[in-house]
Amino acid sequence: MLSRSKLFFPSIALNIRCFSKSATNMSDNLFVHRDTPEDNQNMPFEFNEENKRRIKAILNIYPEGHKRGAMIPLLDLAQRQHGWLPISAMHKVAEILGLPNMRVYEVATFYTMFLRKPTGTYHIQVCTTTPCWLRGSDEILDACKRKLGINVGETTKDMKFTISEVECLGACVNAPMIAVNDDYYEDLTVKDTEEILDDLKNGKQPKAGPRSGRYASEPAGGLTTLTSEPTGPGFGVQSGL
Ligand code: FES
Repeated sequence: MLSRSKLFFPSIALNIRCFSKSATNMSDNLFVHRDTPEDNQNMPFEFNEENKRRIKAILNIYPEGHKRGAMIPLLDLAQRQHGWLPISAMHKVAEILGLPNMRVYEVATFYTMFLRKPTGTYHIQVCTTTPCWLRGSDEILDACKRKLGINVGETTKDMKFTISEVECLGACVNAPMIAVNDDYYEDLTVKDTEEILDDLKNGKQPKAGPRSGRYASEPAGGLTTLTSEPTGPGFGVQSGL
């Protein structure tokens, strides 16, 4: 029998979302592991010497009995070395931390920052959450798709670009924005986005940050507060003191 809410809101009964489509049903992320030629537990994974030294330094931060706290930094190192996070890298992290593989799967599948399938050299993450959407993220996403000839979740044939649609990346005050690997590009127009992608295609590193001329997240129309010289020490203190 239908519940009261389903009678009043038929879309619930039909399992249709009315307001927006969230990352849950549009996500390009893999929530289960399926063996593939490039991602299976028989593929060897080893950290390089430089990363082995980093791992040693990271583990030193954590006291005995709490080394598992280093799991995210170690998974991040594995991903940076390999370009994405294969299951054999998760097993290596589990081995280093002396944990069952399942403990690592739990973390690697929970955080969308961990890329569990081959990803392009430039991971283009387009934020489409409300503040960015109100400022035109649909057009920015369309520009990325058009310019690169791929859809969300796809990678170009030359393995250079992958597009992901993501939830808020914490730069709403500079909406709309995209992240390319570790860099944020903010206050974007379609033209800015196309220029950034052109630069990356041509092997140039576009300057990260706001494209509007703002230095950071200050008001676009100039300062509205703290416009006078700051008062010195002792300001407002009674003269008798
Ligand atoms: S909504 Fe896009 S960065 Fe927050």
